[in-house]
Amino acid sequence: MYKSVYIRTFGCQMNFHDSEKMLGILEKEGFTETDNPSNADIIIFNTCSIRQKAEQKFYSELGRSISYKKRKTGMKIVIGGCIAQQEGKNIFKRFPDVDSVLGPQNIYMLKDLIMGKRSSIAIDDNPEIVNINLPLKRADRLRAWVTIMYGCNNFCSFCIVPYTRGRERSRPSEHIISEVNKLAEDGYKEITLLGQNVNSYNSDLDFPGLLRHLNKIEGIKRIRFVTSHPRDLKDDLINAISELQKVCEHIHLPLQSGSNRILKLMNRGYTYEEYADKILRIREKVKGISITSDIIVGFPGETDEDYLKTMTALKEIEFDGIFSFKYSARPKTIASKMECQINDDTKSDRLKHLIEIQDKITEMKNKALEGTVQEVLLEGESETDKNKFTGRTRSNKIVNFQKINIQKGSILLVEITKGRKHSLEGKPINI
Ligand code: SAH
Ligand code: SF4
Ligand code: F3S
Repeated sequence: MYKSVYIRTFGCQMNFHDSEKMLGILEKEGFTETDNPSNADIIIFNTCSIRQKAEQKFYSELGRSISYKKRKTGMKIVIGGCIAQQEGKNIFKRFPDVDSVLGPQNIYMLKDLIMGKRSSIAIDDNPEIVNINLPLKRADRLRAWVTIMYGCNNFCSFCIVPYTRGRERSRPSEHIISEVNKLAEDGYKEITLLGQNVNSYNSDLDFPGLLRHLNKIEGIKRIRFVTSHPRDLKDDLINAISELQKVCEHIHLPLQSGSNRILKLMNRGYTYEEYADKILRIREKVKGISITSDIIVGFPGETDEDYLKTMTALKEIEFDGIFSFKYSARPKTIASKMECQINDDTKSDRLKHLIEIQDKITEMKNKALEGTVQEVLLEGESETDKNKFTGRTRSNKIVNFQKINIQKGSILLVEITKGRKHSLEGKPINI
């Protein structure tokens, strides 16, 4: 019988990758993915609880799905991801129409939950997660995500991830290497290694050691990774980026705040000066590297002075791009219990000005690339202009250029003719 699954994913790349695992499991059971939730046999929400906004979006969509379920007999609703882990059986109390709740450490149980072979909830801590290799239905055919570690031990005071993803655990390197070998055989060109803190990868190899092994795999052209923690970024990783040909010249290194007082309250384990020093060393050793970051405004007790220090940091460091967020109080976290929570208007104001400053810096950085020649991996047709191709530089910037007669997945040289706020324009050379 034809069975269909609709999956809606919120949150980070790790969550999107987990959705590929869920679809992999269900495909083996004869399910096909559909983009129409109203008629699906199973609706899965792979949820995110990093900020309140992400949660609210999910709850409103869940309401709609429940109305679909009332019209289609046999439809099942599964809640996965970080809200599933955080809320557990409370979800059934609030939403009796939900059939199963599945935490990120228990994705392998999806099949049994659907078949009704298990109770309807799976949110236990699961140390064995590192040894489980699940089938995958990957969303892309060129670029693939590869999990290298699960969980997080850092307990930054604002962050819910250590409570939803469990303790930090590294996957055995042989599993990772064989997965990447298989990806190369299947024609994948780029891999992105995933972990909350890849610098603390620790199996029989450390992270730079893992990169050295992966760099040898024929067929794979580009290696990326997210996320690095500034505290744990050492010279050995900087050297690996600089020496290993396939490891791309881009690092995402979340600063969070430019104020040492706030960094301390956040439990980040570094000062702004230490951070800035690492940036200097990276830029010195890896020419042309792009550096991106995450910033939070309105952390409890953040004064105007603290905020101005973050603004100064942006101007001093000149990131290639940032993701910036209003602080959002999260259950269980230390910061949510701190005094002096900042009101929403102040947070919005601070965020607005921060984005204005950074937009100018991003545009300036992109303009500085005009006239340079960049190696681009062709990803396909541009979504906004059918006459154009789109691809990415090694530094992870989007480049659009006139269509030419080459295949998706090719690597080509492109001269940058225009740097814009969110992308580059160019023209292919030597073709
Ligand atoms: N493990 C990664 C980050 C994961 S969460 C790291 O440590 O770098 C991605 C980003 O969300 C964080 O870097 C932070 O900037 C933001 N974030 C996390 N919790 C938040 C909260 N409670 N409010 C606002 N932003 C938050
Ligand atoms: Fe959250 Fe900090 Fe862990 Fe990143 S390192 S996931 S911000 S606790
Ligand atoms: Fe990712 Fe959101 Fe969970 S950012 S780790 S899905 S809380």
